[in-house]
Amino acid sequence: MSADLQKKTAGEAAAERIQPGMTVGLGTGSTAAWFVKALAARNLADLRCVPTSEATADLARSLGLPLTTLEDVARIDITVDGADEVGPGLALIKGGGAALLREKLVWERSDRCVVIADAAKVVKALGRFALPIEVVAFGHKTTANRIADVLADHEIGMPARLRTADRGIVRTDGGNVIYDAACGVIADPARLAADLKSLTGVVEHGLFLDLAEEAIIGTDTGVETLHP
Ligand code: A5P
Repeated sequence: MSADLQKKTAGEAAAERIQPGMTVGLGTGSTAAWFVKALAARNLADLRCVPTSEATADLARSLGLPLTTLEDVARIDITVDGADEVGPGLALIKGGGAALLREKLVWERSDRCVVIADAAKVVKALGRFALPIEVVAFGHKTTANRIADVLADHEIGMPARLRTADRGIVRTDGGNVIYDAACGVIADPARLAADLKSLTGVVEHGLFLDLAEEAIIGTDTGVETLHP
C-alpha cells in the first residue's frame, strides 16, 4: 500500500472516533487532510471544528464543516493530526507543514489527541526528520546562533537551517520563520525541548511530548494502533 493510501486509511479510521456534538481539533498536513475529508463525509450533527492552520480552515470550510476558534471553545474533545515522526512513548516531531505553533496550542487544549500517520513515520528514536523550530522573524539570525549553541550542547553538530521555498523564506501563519535542525538522533527529547523553549526568540519547537494518547498508523494491511 502506498504511503498516501496508508495516510488515507489512518485518516478514515480516526474519523470513526468522532461522535456528533464533539468539538474537534483539525490537524494540518496531507494525512490530516484525509481525516478532514472523511470527517466531512460522515456529516455528523453539531460538530464544532478548530483548525490548526489557514490551509486546514480553507479545506474544512470548502467541505462544509462548521468552524470555530480556540478563543471560542472552553475545551476541545479530540484533536486528530499528522506527524513527521512517531517515536517511543508516542513522542513526536511535528511541524513539517510549518503549523507547529497553532497545532501545539490546539493539542494542549484537547482532552484527547490522536496522531495519524503512515508506517514509515514510526521510528525507534526521534531525530531523523529535521526538527522544526519556529523563531520570531526579528533578529532570527542571532536567535539561530543561540539555537546552534543549544544543539551543540546536545552533541548535535549541524546548525539549524532557515526554511525557504520557491518564494523565499517560509513564513508561518503567525508571521514567524522556521529553522530545521537535522539532529540525527535526539538522545534526550525532553531536555532539548526545555532548552530550546528557554531561548528568547524561539516561539515553539516541533517536539510534541506526552501529548498523544493514541496513534493510528496506516500499514500495508490496514491500521495499527499504538499507545504510549
Ligand atoms: C504540520 O505542521 C505538520 O505537523 C504535519 O502534521 C506533519 O508535517 C505531517 O504532515 P503529513 O501528514 O503531510 O506527512
